[in-house]
Amino acid sequence: MDKEHIFFENYARNWDRDRKADAKILSSFMELAGIRPGSVILDAGCGTGVLLPYLSAAAGDDGTVEGFDYSQQMIDVAKEKFSHLANVTFTTGDVLKYHFPEKHYDVVCCLNFYPHIASHSRDVIRRLYKAMVPGGTLLIMHDMPRKAVNAIHGGQPVLPPVDVLEEKLISAGFSVVIAMDTDRFYLIKVVKEADEADFVYDDEEQPAGVASHPLHHGHHHTETKRVLNRLSRITGHVEAIKRMIEDGRDCSDVLVQLAAVHSAVAGVSRVILKDHIDHCIIDAIREHDADAVENLKKAINTFVK
Ligand SMILES: C[S@@+](CC[C@H](N)C(=O)[O-])C[C@H]1O[C@@H](n2cnc3c(N)ncnc32)[C@H](O)[C@@H]1O
Repeated sequence: MDKEHIFFENYARNWDRDRKADAKILSSFMELAGIRPGSVILDAGCGTGVLLPYLSAAAGDDGTVEGFDYSQQMIDVAKEKFSHLANVTFTTGDVLKYHFPEKHYDVVCCLNFYPHIASHSRDVIRRLYKAMVPGGTLLIMHDMPRKAVNAIHGGQPVLPPVDVLEEKLISAGFSVVIAMDTDRFYLIKVVKEADEADFVYDDEEQPAGVASHPLHHGHHHTETKRVLNRLSRITGHVEAIKRMIEDGRDCSDVLVQLAAVHSAVAGVSRVILKDHIDHCIIDAIREHDADAVENLKKAINTFVK
């Protein structure tokens, strides 16, 4: 057992005394997560199970939630509190070693967990990716601001800015749906891209003529699908916000959702801009195409305004 593991074993019985859980933020996380009833959920690094009742409610009678932690003491406390929840199970295991079943989880939650695997993040992200179904959702959440998280860890940048973590997740095969770094919380929601063979569009998501309408000449087909998928999700999100307003939901809840849409739109813009630079501008420079370079400058100016 390493020092950190021993720390959590010893801290487990006092964790809830010291942990200030903000129910409002945790509820907002659940809204942003958009977990479907019937989902198979993993709560990685569940600790004493702060998130378990929220996940249990979201999964419903047909879903399951697995609280997972390497600290036996943490798991024992979580069990004492939540073993009455019929859809919740508990596993003691180290995320760096445990053999997760492949393509199994619809949703993986990491609440205040990332800093503890930051030095092995690529390995852990790859493991979680393999354990998730295509189209599954990974949530990296902190119910405190990034600055405060890093301060707890001696000022080390264990929780990076969202764009840094986004890049890591994208290179592992995820696409970013929401990335928020506010003065109250940090949340990244990504979706496991389906393999070409696994790819299934929802009916309303099926974009007409995907294959014959690449984003623009020379772009790889997969990028176009990713962009269209992200836009479909944003459209769905905006529709949900409209319903929240119709239902007279709390303004602060609506604002959190709008901020998420804002970040999702910025994410799509970044993908398109990167794609444009990677696939068109390099060629344009090589071919001395001054118009294309000028157009890129205009696009960047609009994007950074
Ligand atoms: C900061 S606590 C967060 C607990 C809980 N999610 C919460 O928000 O209250 C981090 C948890 O991750 C667990 N953990 C750290 N490294 C782990 C690993 N490699 N595998 C499994 N669990 C780990 C610790 O035991 C601890 O319970």
